[in-house]
Amino acid sequence: MRALFDSYRLGAITLRNRIVMAPMTRNRADENGDPNELMIEYYTQRASMGLIITEGTAPEHVGKAYPGIPGMYSDSQSLGWRKITDSVHALNGTIFLQLMHSGRISHKKITGLVPMSPSAIKPAGEIFTGITNDTFEIPLEMSLSDIENTRLAFVGAAKRAIDAGFDGVEIHAANGYLLHQFLATNSNLRTDEYGGSPENRARYIIEIVDSISQIIGSGRVGIRLSPNGKFNDISENDVDETYGYLMNELSSKGLAYLHLAQQSGFDGIAFARSHFRGTLIANSGYGDQNKIETARRIIEEGQADLFSFGRLALANPDLPKRLASDAHLISADSKSFYSRGPIGYTDYPHLAP
Ligand SMILES: Cc1cc2nc3c(=O)[nH]c(=O)nc-3n(C[C@H](O)[C@H](O)[C@H](O)COP(=O)(O)O)c2cc1C
Repeated sequence: MRALFDSYRLGAITLRNRIVMAPMTRNRADENGDPNELMIEYYTQRASMGLIITEGTAPEHVGKAYPGIPGMYSDSQSLGWRKITDSVHALNGTIFLQLMHSGRISHKKITGLVPMSPSAIKPAGEIFTGITNDTFEIPLEMSLSDIENTRLAFVGAAKRAIDAGFDGVEIHAANGYLLHQFLATNSNLRTDEYGGSPENRARYIIEIVDSISQIIGSGRVGIRLSPNGKFNDISENDVDETYGYLMNELSSKGLAYLHLAQQSGFDGIAFARSHFRGTLIANSGYGDQNKIETARRIIEEGQADLFSFGRLALANPDLPKRLASDAHLISADSKSFYSRGPIGYTDYPHLAP
């Protein structure tokens, strides 16, 4: 029987266990998007996870969602990340960079630029812009040349990631950020080849996957999806059709993995298992009150190959060791999710040796 603690062959890499740290935005990078010493410590503390997926990282400046988000579009950002990958690798860890372009989930007060999206539709709600919350702005509808430039930015960031020592990249096409905005029916009202049918709405994601794969190899490319997700004012009225099409297309591309973020009202994990043939990482979602039990069952029954933990990995840097010994698990303190400094970031304790 497969267990959470079994190793797993992810393409050319062997993961030491099937426990994945889910990507989590922590807003601790420097003002210019550079990773810093505190971030080295945070990721290094978590090197015993089978796979670390970093926080969402902007592939270009306009795609920076929140203050304190790191980037992967400048030399100083690359250098900062290189220190993190070296430090994680020194402990035999494995680390992928999540590429997250925010699209309309950003603000001129954060980047100095008007956010871009497939259509000029303002999301409902507010965004934290540094000191206060501000209502979202109407984004600029991306022209075909914006679409092309942003595709190139994704490719550039993926190349930088590999050059900076990452084992691969995860393309964030979930949770209402740019690529999800292309996919969803309420945020994409385009009438050109990027809007309308499921094939057209999925086109941009597939183009980005293909372009990145050509440069760094498909075995180093993962993708995250959240079918039926409502976060960031998303609403999808044809989940089966759109994700069925997209996952079938992705299946033949030899990707490192599909990372499925389960949403209420739709069994995305089972759906992904039947539509996607490669490695599947399951995340059972915020609402799951029995994470550990779910993780064990999903892996043992082969419903997915790897299981990702968000808040438990945040609050338990030595999560694999704690799970293996049925040790006490610390609950994450949500007040420090997006604050600055070490409190609630690097001060969660390891078990005594
Ligand atoms: C503080 C925090 C930040 C997050 N940031 C991201 C992110 O940058 N990218 C992403 O794909 N998901 C992000 N998520 C979602 C997590 O990856 C995960 O799907 C979610 O926390 C549910 O898993 P859990 O119940 O194990 O925490 C974030 C979650 C939390 C708690």
